[in-house]
Amino acid sequence: MRRATITGLGTAVGREVVTNHDLARTLDTSDEWIVERTGIHERRVGGTCLELGAEAARLALEQAETEAADLDLIICSTCTPDQVFPAVSNRIQDELGANCGAFDLNAACSGFTYGITIGQAQIAAGMERVLVVGVDTLSRFTDWQDRTTAILFGDGAGAVVLAPPSRPDRGLLSTYMGSEGRYADLLACDFGGYIRMDGKEVFRQAVRVMVSASLKVLADAGLDAPDVAAVVPHQANIRIIESAMKRLGIPLERAATVLQSTGNTSSASIPLAMDAAVSNGGIRDGDAVLLVGFGAGMSVAAALLRWGK
Ligand code: ACO
Repeated sequence: MRRATITGLGTAVGREVVTNHDLARTLDTSDEWIVERTGIHERRVGGTCLELGAEAARLALEQAETEAADLDLIICSTCTPDQVFPAVSNRIQDELGANCGAFDLNAACSGFTYGITIGQAQIAAGMERVLVVGVDTLSRFTDWQDRTTAILFGDGAGAVVLAPPSRPDRGLLSTYMGSEGRYADLLACDFGGYIRMDGKEVFRQAVRVMVSASLKVLADAGLDAPDVAAVVPHQANIRIIESAMKRLGIPLERAATVLQSTGNTSSASIPLAMDAAVSNGGIRDGDAVLLVGFGAGMSVAAALLRWGK
């Protein structure tokens, strides 16, 4: 099967910084409690999905040295679109000056990895350049008076350009998409409402599904956990990441994290963490990189790739 690889990566975050200390002024909480229970120090708030998504997409196209007009498809993962319809991806397509098909997908915090999986299939089927955007503005659906959720979320976007690799050994090796709808009520947001969740149970199930999805893509690619140079997990809670890494038997230092300064940005969290890891040398050419996301649904997705163009 023809492979796809990431040829460009771009990110954007909300302009306003909201620290734990800021939250502690209006909520019965503290910086110490939030850092100890989640690892989050601050989050970024503001912007629409269109603004953040288009900003990240432009940077990804620039890095990929690809013109928007040459894109074959735009996939936008979001569970917090600016409107019920049209899709955010249609507006991003227009904003970029692209001339291709565009659609949104909602797989909550697993959505970016779902998008990579669908994009890869389109490359295998003959497309040359697919833009995958992950963007969420969870702050609009957060009850800022509820200390159990307000501490967790932020706004951001990440985008990648997928194209066939110039070296045949680079690119996506295996992917997995899962859904456990029996857990749908653990984490939900109704029309006109706010995010509500059973945090403890989400935590437990998240670790389980992250580990099983990771093992599945490793087995499909014929790799073992120690072969993985970098894990890019969904950025919900540092303790979830620690538990999953421990169960996988991969040293914690190999996990890319950005949640300390972004909070949980849902669809954007994996590309944001990937960008940070590429910048700090945590991901290098030739590395086996494992992306693994989980979220409301309960959805889960993983992708294993050999990094490089
Ligand atoms: N500050 C201070 N105290 C708090 C706060 C707060 N912000 N929030 C809750 N507490 C209190 C609780 O009321 C409770 O008090 P009690 O013992 O008197 O009842 C105590 O702290 C312990 O609360 P727990 O809920 O047991 O705390 P826990 O260690 O489970 O941490 C947390 C809560 C951080 C939410 C954790 O469960 C978690 O991260 N779960 C996963 C959530 C998640 O990942 N959600 C997003 C999924 S991705 C997506 O699809 C959007």
